[in-house]
Amino acid sequence: MAEPKPVYIVTGGAGFIGSNLVAELMRREPGAHVYVVDDFRTGSYANLVEACDRAGVGPFRGTVMPDDISELNWQPAVEGLMPRAVFHLAAITDTLEFDEKKMLSTNTESFVDILEACAGAGVPLVYASSGATYGTPAESETRTPFPESSAGSPQNVYGFSKWLMDVELERWFERCERDGEPLPHVVGLRYFNVFGPGERRKGKMASMVWHLTNQILDGGRPRLFKHGEQERDQVYVDDVVSCTIAAAQKGVTPGVYNCGSGRVTSFNQIVDAINEALGTSVEPEYFDMPEVMRATYQHYTCADMSRTAKGIGHRPNWSPMDAMIRYARHILADRQRRGEPIRAGISAGAQA
Ligand SMILES: NC(=O)c1ccc[n+]([C@@H]2O[C@H](COP(=O)([O-])OP(=O)(O)OC[C@H]3O[C@@H](n4cnc5c(N)ncnc54)[C@H](O)[C@@H]3O)[C@@H](O)[C@H]2O)c1
Repeated sequence: MAEPKPVYIVTGGAGFIGSNLVAELMRREPGAHVYVVDDFRTGSYANLVEACDRAGVGPFRGTVMPDDISELNWQPAVEGLMPRAVFHLAAITDTLEFDEKKMLSTNTESFVDILEACAGAGVPLVYASSGATYGTPAESETRTPFPESSAGSPQNVYGFSKWLMDVELERWFERCERDGEPLPHVVGLRYFNVFGPGERRKGKMASMVWHLTNQILDGGRPRLFKHGEQERDQVYVDDVVSCTIAAAQKGVTPGVYNCGSGRVTSFNQIVDAINEALGTSVEPEYFDMPEVMRATYQHYTCADMSRTAKGIGHRPNWSPMDAMIRYARHILADRQRRGEPIRAGISAGAQA
């Protein structure tokens, strides 16, 4: 008898990272059936089409469940499909969303249902947490990478909703330990600042690399808060996808892990990478950070990736600068393909 097709569920699969993940699952396992659960509030069918195209896997042939994760009945869904893994990426991703009730019920409450369904059915679950769970820990003063234990003082309700997901998992694990049960295969990944192909539809929530590249291609100067020395852990989407898939494999130690590049890039360095990619030499235009942002702004973020290497066996493959150069050229080629005007004097050699 033929082996049944491996099944995966990807929530938020029509979003930026989710669509890249879906395409990579299809590339690695051409016979797999991927179920995407997405209500399309920030995602689009076009992300899936384009991600499959970029990955060269042919058209998407999975199933789309256009459902709100908070309305889906998770236990029968998971028990019915018995996926090889559930990747839970759906969330309100607008960090400027201040409706706290909406944020917590969508991001945190739904996660608890998914956690219960997966743990109950013995299905591995990997979910997207965030570097926003850290806020500005002591390490940001000393500019040293953040160990997972330093999270817990997020500075917006988005970060808080992600922090509470990690807390729910911790509580679940404590209960298992108390009852002498093995820990379920559940891994939370604190993604840092993710950039790469597929974020075109994220609007203001797209990465700095995206915005600064487009500002240059629009003929302007890249706009940075004074004086561009802020440092962030910018991580290429390919590395995030690899880490996410690795976290679902056998032998992984359940828990919450950082998922970044493990390196910092200053905003000025991002502009340097873009100028190198496009053959331009545009100087940044510096402006004052708005007063309201000053108290809570993250001037430094960096993932300590040592536990991720041990527990998941994942090490980032891309240097952020190399990935930014590649990505800026991708943005240029994409704009040219779509016939959008290029108003910067790019060099003839700037090719994806
Ligand atoms: N992009 C980053 O830099 C970054 C950093 C940290 C964490 N994350 C996390 O990674 C995940 C993916 O983020 P992204 O950047 O791809 O964002 P995205 O907005 O492109 O993707 C989120 C997807 O979830 C879907 N969605 C939202 N609420 C839903 C709901 N209630 N029911 C069903 N679908 C819903 C959206 O339609 C969208 O397709 C999110 O959980 C986000 O919080 C992203």
